[in-house]
Amino acid sequence: MRTVNSTQQYRLAEIRKVFARDQVALDRIVLTVCRGERVALIGPSGAGKTTLFRLLNCTLRPTSGKLWIDDEDVESLNGKDLRRTRSRIGSVYQQHNLVPRLRVIHNVLAGQLGRWATLQSLLSLFKPADVEIARQALQQVGMPEKLLERTDELSGGQQQRVAIARVLVQNPDVILADEPVSSVDPSLASTIVRLLIEISQNRHKTLIVSLHSVDLALAYFPRVIGIKEGRVSFDLETSKITEGMLEDLYSGNFRDHSMTEAISERVQSVAYPSVG
Ligand SMILES: Nc1ncnc2c1ncn2[C@@H]1O[C@H](COP(=O)(O)OP(=O)(O)OP(=O)(O)O)[C@@H](O)[C@H]1O
Ligand SMILES: [Mg+2]
Repeated sequence: MRTVNSTQQYRLAEIRKVFARDQVALDRIVLTVCRGERVALIGPSGAGKTTLFRLLNCTLRPTSGKLWIDDEDVESLNGKDLRRTRSRIGSVYQQHNLVPRLRVIHNVLAGQLGRWATLQSLLSLFKPADVEIARQALQQVGMPEKLLERTDELSGGQQQRVAIARVLVQNPDVILADEPVSSVDPSLASTIVRLLIEISQNRHKTLIVSLHSVDLALAYFPRVIGIKEGRVSFDLETSKITEGMLEDLYSGNFRDHSMTEAISERVQSVAYPSVG
């Protein structure tokens, strides 16, 4: 039954994920993400960000606790219902998850097919309408000319944009991007983050992005969640985040985590507001 609160995309209650050998990856996670919200996840390596993403895209089940997507209890979903829910969630990963030896068009249209290894895609039997869909998606990520190139002949940043084009074709309700810019240079990183934000704004998609760059999280997202040792360390409007919170999140090594002067000043001005 779908009632309760139709503006909620995700609701997590006391989520815990324990892997083999008692490895607690997530513990007592309580979160709500509304439809159309843009949220950044930050936190040190091993904090549990990827595990959280895998729960959010239903490729992993929690050990305990409850997860609702669009007011549906994920635990109750199986077979067709689970596939339908998964199809409403588009994922972009650091490793792109593209098929390297295929042409760009195949990888982009995989978003539409739901699976890449169909006879149709292997034989390049695309209808003109499909070609146009792929071309438009590539246009939106700024590289329409790459349609027929081999994916493994593109740079890391270009491949990341192919992965985003694939999500555009999938047209999901939610976009989850787990460290989507780790393998690209800083200027391209902000271009890709801006692209994700634009897609979320223009198409009313919920966007959750994990980032190792605190700068990007603070610069582009209205809400930032800090994850540390499997727990939510803070979950705040960006303007309320202080340098002390970031120091705590990274156990005193925050300065080593790339932060530009401008952002540093802004964070400090929040931490130590000027008097008078
Ligand atoms: N499949 C697994 N089996 C066992 N332990 C796992 C598994 N996946 C993750 N873990 C453990 O869970 C914890 C959280 O890992 P996770 O990959 O979620 O962290 P992360 O925040 O994404 O880190 P990073 O920033 O390095 O990507 C780590 O201690 C990790 O070793
Ligand atoms: Mg990770």
